[in-house]
Formats: sequence, C-alpha cells, structure tokens
Amino acid sequence: MKKRLFSGIQPSGDVHIGNYLGAIKNWVRLIDQYDCLFCIVDYHAITIEYDPKEMQRRIFNAAAVNIAAGLDPEKCTIFVQSHVPEHTELAWIFNTITPIGHLERMTQFKDKSKQHRENINAGLFTYPVLQTADILLYKGEVVPVGEDQVQHIELSREIARKFNMRYGEIFPEPQEILSEAPRIMGLDGKTKMSKSLGNYISLVESPESIWKKLSTAVTDENRKRRTDPGNPDICNLFTLHKYFSKKEQIERINVVCRTAEIGCIECKKILSENMVEHLTPICLKYERLIKNTDSLVNILQTGAKRCRRMAEETMIEVKKKMGLV
Ligand code: AMP
Ligand code: TRP
Repeated sequence: MKKRLFSGIQPSGDVHIGNYLGAIKNWVRLIDQYDCLFCIVDYHAITIEYDPKEMQRRIFNAAAVNIAAGLDPEKCTIFVQSHVPEHTELAWIFNTITPIGHLERMTQFKDKSKQHRENINAGLFTYPVLQTADILLYKGEVVPVGEDQVQHIELSREIARKFNMRYGEIFPEPQEILSEAPRIMGLDGKTKMSKSLGNYISLVESPESIWKKLSTAVTDENRKRRTDPGNPDICNLFTLHKYFSKKEQIERINVVCRTAEIGCIECKKILSENMVEHLTPICLKYERLIKNTDSLVNILQTGAKRCRRMAEETMIEVKKKMGLV
C-alpha cells in the first residue's frame, strides 16, 4: 500500500509560477510514489471577499491548470473540497480541541487580517483547522506545500496528537514536503509572489505578457546604470533563471552580470524566452482542457466520489472514538 499524500490549492485567482515551483512541480514529481489526493479548497477561498459569479470559473480554472501542469487524473484523485461535506464536519470537531492561542500565532492569519481589515471573520481565524481536517480526513501522511504553509502543517500535527491522546489513536502526524523553491518572491522583489498582490506571472500567461511583466520586474536595485556591475545573489530574477534557464546560461549570467558584460534587459530577454518555452506546453494543454467543461466535471465528480467513501469511513471511526454514536 502506498502512503497517502494530500495537498490543496485555493481557487482564488490565477495559478502562478510561485505555486508551480513551490508546490505543483513537487506534486507531479511524487505522483507515482504516493496515493495522491489534490483538493481545490473552495471553502478556504471564501474566507476572503469574492464574487460568487466568478467562483465556478475559478474552480474549473484551478482544475485545468493543475492537470495541464502534470496532475494526470488517471494517476491521482482531484476533487473539490465542498463536494465532500465531511471536511467541515471534522473541522468542527477539531475546533473543539484547538486552543485559540495556537490560532492567534498563525502568521497567515495575522497577514490576512491586515490585508482584509474590513472582513476579519471567524472562518479566516479557524482556516488552519479546516486545513487539518482536509488532510486528516484521509489520514494524509505527506503534504507538499510552499514555505508559507509549514506553520499550518505543524499545527495539524499538534491537532492529530491531541486527538489521538484524548480519544484514541486514529490519525497520523502529517509531514510537509518542501520543494527546492519553497518561497518565490513577486516581481517587485520585495513580497512573496501571491495571487492577491498581483505581483505574479501566471502559469498560462501569454508570451507578450510574460515579457511585459519581466521587463518592469525589479532586479538588483544597486545596479542603477548599464555599466554598473550587478549582483546575482540579490537579484530576484536570477533566482527565476535557476528554475527556467539552461545550466550554461545560468553559469554565464552568474559571471557576466558581475562584470557588467550583460545588462538587465538582455538578461530578462533570456529568462523570458526560457519561461515561454517552459510554459507553452502547459498553456496549450490548458486551452484544450478549459474548453471541455464536461470532461472537467467528470474528473471532479469521480474524485469526489472516491473521497466521500474514504471520508465516511473516517467519520464513523472518529465518532465511535468520541462516543458520538
Ligand atoms: P495558494 O495559492 O495559497 O492556494 O497556494 C497553493 C500552494 O502554492 C501552497 O502549497 C503554497 O504554499 C504554494 N505557494 C503559494 N505562493 C508561493 C510562493 N510565492 N512560493 C512558493 N510556493 C508558494
Ligand atoms: N492553505 C493552503 C494554501 O493557502 C491550501 C490548503 C488547504 C492546503 N488545505 C490544504 C494545503 C491541505 C495542503 C494541505 O496554500
């Protein structure tokens, strides 16, 4: 029996290269090794203001982009969180064993409360409890995520431990798996690449738009003139070269940037070309998938069906242990 892997992505906007390098690439890499469940977490996405008319399109979009990026539905289970009601049922139970103090420490909660001062709702606060329920409902053991989620996975271990101690051993303590690029910075070079900050390149961005975005992206800010030597170690775009460009190109840039033999524009052109080359197959596959809504519905329904069966079993076990039958 393969170990179970669980991960989730919010349908809260365009999937970007930060999601790809930080999480999706790792999901694809591990797909044969684990029994993989990938969840489009719509109940998490509604903790911030959104347009109900947009949500369905975003869910299909998240499914299509991830499949295009390599999540083969023949090899893994892809489903929508709200299609399996047990996620919120188990979250409620976990709410009763999660100290408020632990939730107050969550940096994502603190950041999001600052970003959305007009809507600091209880769902935003208990978000990591629902995330724990997502994973433990299927007894997920490994969770590939970006660095921003590590604190949430730590909390999920604490909740699993607490439940097991109080009611009896049921749950594993999930372990995060980080990629080689756990925190991609945005094009401003200052903040984490994020859907809500608009500082990203989408995974299905057009070649023109990739170039437009890269051409204004922040590089080594100490390099004011073309003749100034640059420092790749502190250049955000050099980091992106490491994931999109060829080994010889990266090695060369690492030298000629420091000697001012190459300017930022030329360097960005190389990155842009490589990014387009890398993302074009994903774009083409996405275009095909997004047109075929019936096939996406079918994939998501098949996924939900499998997950509902597993979820029901876990809830019977949980309720028995808790004396709720
Ligand atoms: P989200 O878009 O918040 O649903 O995130 C989906 C996955 O992408 C999670 O595993 C995140 O940790 C990861 N992720 C999001 N932004 C970044 C980033 N800038 N760098 C690396 N990983 C990221
Ligand atoms: N909170 C995660 C994010 O913002 C998404 C998520 C929800 C998730 N449930 C999960 C990730 C379970 C891993 C496992 O990126």
